[in-house]
Amino acid sequence: VPFDWEQKFASRVDRMTGSAIRDLLRLAERPDVISFAGGLPAVDVLPAEEVERASQRILRNLGSWALQYGATEGYLPLREWIAGTMSQEGIPITVDNVLITTGSQQALDLLGKIFVGPGDWIAVESPTYPAALQAWSAYEGEFLPIPSDERGMILDQLEEQLAAGPKFLYCLPNFQNPRGVTLVAERRENLVAVATRAGVPIVEDDPYRDLRFEGDHLPRLLAIDAQRRGVGENSYRGGVIYVSSFSKILSPGIRVGWLIAAPEVIRRLVLAKQSTDLHTSTFNQMLAYDLARTGYLVRHIPTIVHAYRERRDVMLAALREHFPPNVRWTHPQGGMFIWVTLPEDYDAQVLLGEAIARKVAFVPGASFHVDGRGANTLRLNFTNATPERIREGIARLGCVLREQLRPRRTSRVA
Ligand SMILES: Cc1ncc(COP(=O)(O)O)c(C=O)c1O
Repeated sequence: VPFDWEQKFASRVDRMTGSAIRDLLRLAERPDVISFAGGLPAVDVLPAEEVERASQRILRNLGSWALQYGATEGYLPLREWIAGTMSQEGIPITVDNVLITTGSQQALDLLGKIFVGPGDWIAVESPTYPAALQAWSAYEGEFLPIPSDERGMILDQLEEQLAAGPKFLYCLPNFQNPRGVTLVAERRENLVAVATRAGVPIVEDDPYRDLRFEGDHLPRLLAIDAQRRGVGENSYRGGVIYVSSFSKILSPGIRVGWLIAAPEVIRRLVLAKQSTDLHTSTFNQMLAYDLARTGYLVRHIPTIVHAYRERRDVMLAALREHFPPNVRWTHPQGGMFIWVTLPEDYDAQVLLGEAIARKVAFVPGASFHVDGRGANTLRLNFTNATPERIREGIARLGCVLREQLRPRRTSRVA
């Protein structure tokens, strides 16, 4: 007789529901499916040879130290490099502001661990990155959706919305996951001003910033906040917590991310991280540092940008060619995703069933919303499939849209 585990789980596991994306990724692994579902980088931009060379350098130079336990805060040379790079925008970042995390996903989880308790509100851009919602939902947080348009988060009602007293506001300013849109400069200034007045911290999740295909970089919310507070010599002590990662510019498999925050926040996060994993992989941090220090990273990013720009353009052209005229989509200036809006009555979940039968996959948009909206939306990843497969996949999806999709209400009645 198997052991009865169900009665042993803590009540919070009921809030840990699976992510639609992860289930779909399983399906996307089948080679005959053209998947626009996951957020996977292109496999041909993952630098296996350079990592092999860097591994040899590290083991030759540091020997067994590369295999030893390390500090919870992270590998000091890597923290110093990040502090130096982030300071270039005129933000006074020191190592005391930097925590290395096991992917930026761990940073999001640790923020939940130190800030979120039962019934706490978190304001989130809507739609937003579902694994952040998953992380904070496990700490029994509740979500306050802030709507967004082509120019990012809509701030008209923000002051009133923040009156509910959320623990923090979660924002993805660049090439947002899932919509691919970027928060415009004026709104950035405004967002920081309103949040500061309301006393609400901002969590700025920014893994896609360097994947910019055109246009100029816009200031980080972190930089705007630092400027507003006055830049001094000492560590940054403002109200923005900045999260980023080597996943999209180097390798998601090495699991190295980072977080910038006021030292008093870093100290709490370090305690929270100790009980989670003691520290992020020493060797993988050394890898990230080696590839950054030697200048490889700076040379590699344009290769990724070039490949992804081409794939975005191929997908946009295929969408124009194959999708019906009453369907709309975003035109991202970078990142990894295009967001598609079907006419109101259409249900992307129904469409997915039909698409899978034609061996093409995407993520229905409802899973990115906290308020039950978005049934008529879907997310397409344009970085993982080759240009040929993108053309073929969008053609298949266009066929499904034109032939198979029925208005939701009609299909229910039928
Ligand atoms: C917005 C956003 N934040 C965080 C992550 C987590 O990335 P990682 O843990 O690999 O750094 C992702 C991954 O897709 C993401 O899209």
